[in-house]
Amino acid sequence: MYKKILISNTKQNEYFKETLGKSEILEDYSHIELRPEITNCCNFECSFCAHQIMKRKKGFMKDDLFNKILKEAKEIGIKTIDIRNMGEPLLDEKLVDRTQAASKLGFEVHTHTNGFLLNFNLFNELCEAGISYIILSLSPRTEFEKTRNRDFGVIENNLNEIARSNYKERLIVDMIGADHTQKEEEEFEQFLDNLGFQIRKKLITHNFATSNINALKYNYCHRLWNSFTINWNGDVPLCCMDYDGQLNLGNVYNNHIRDIINSSLYSEVRKEHLAGNFLEICLKCDNNHINNNLINRALENYTGVNTI
Ligand SMILES: C[S@@+](CC[C@H](N)C(=O)[O-])C[C@H]1O[C@@H](n2cnc3c(N)ncnc32)[C@H](O)[C@@H]1O
Ligand code: SF4
Ligand code: SF4
Repeated sequence: MYKKILISNTKQNEYFKETLGKSEILEDYSHIELRPEITNCCNFECSFCAHQIMKRKKGFMKDDLFNKILKEAKEIGIKTIDIRNMGEPLLDEKLVDRTQAASKLGFEVHTHTNGFLLNFNLFNELCEAGISYIILSLSPRTEFEKTRNRDFGVIENNLNEIARSNYKERLIVDMIGADHTQKEEEEFEQFLDNLGFQIRKKLITHNFATSNINALKYNYCHRLWNSFTINWNGDVPLCCMDYDGQLNLGNVYNNHIRDIINSSLYSEVRKEHLAGNFLEICLKCDNNHINNNLINRALENYTGVNTI
């Protein structure tokens, strides 16, 4: 199950061990970002996404499970719910109600979307239901049409409408990909700027943990400490890279979230991780490597200090 490799002795790693990674057992859950996958169905087939190779059964999360998640997350002091994983959350017709239920309980709620269904009305309804922000994953026009095989014009229309909303500042654009020219990127930035939107992050695509083992330089991964993903059927995978739920850490139908977070299996995974014995999936994952702000962001979540 585990492979041992040498850890580079960087300051980041030392800092990680002193803070987030100081123990394999979690006592404070408040910094965990809970990620319920309300559906793994999608209306896109992005070339960079593992959705197209995912073999898991497709479905939508049932109300009893969603409500159990909210109740237990509240009990243990989780503060943030990011509605997303391997699917398009806007396909769930209960998204507005679910946002409202979570928001009423005091959670900060976000979601990630491809934006195709994000029209003016739905955007406003989500904002009125209490969503803190909606992250739109986008690329410059030519790259968008190549990687998504969809008409950028639909997104353009949605953005034109959302630009008139009183809640427009709740739309966050993340730019994903690198298959575009400098000129295309500048045009894209100008297009967003004209509408009053800015790019929050530029993300290079990661490999969904599919590279050859040991192919990558390694850093500790904060995700084992500060994110918790629940698939639509209640199964808990390692993280969002574990798109097929290869490592099943438990099922929320049968266990309290707290008991999965600190189960003997999950604690052992974290303990071994700290000792430099990494799961195969982690060795195949280039996410920390590529988006190397992840540890900084983890530290930021943990300490409340902006480290980026
Ligand atoms: C898997 S998607 C699910 C939510 C929604 N369907 C969307 O596209 O935003 C969640 C996030 O992962 C990003 N994503 C997908 N494939 C990726 C990859 N290979 N590298 C980095 N991010 C990726 C998407 O752009 C999106 O921001
Ligand atoms: S990135 Fe999002 S929209 Fe694209 S295929 Fe994956 S889940 Fe669907
Ligand atoms: S290294 Fe990759 S696969 Fe492992 S926990 Fe982190 S994000 Fe997930």
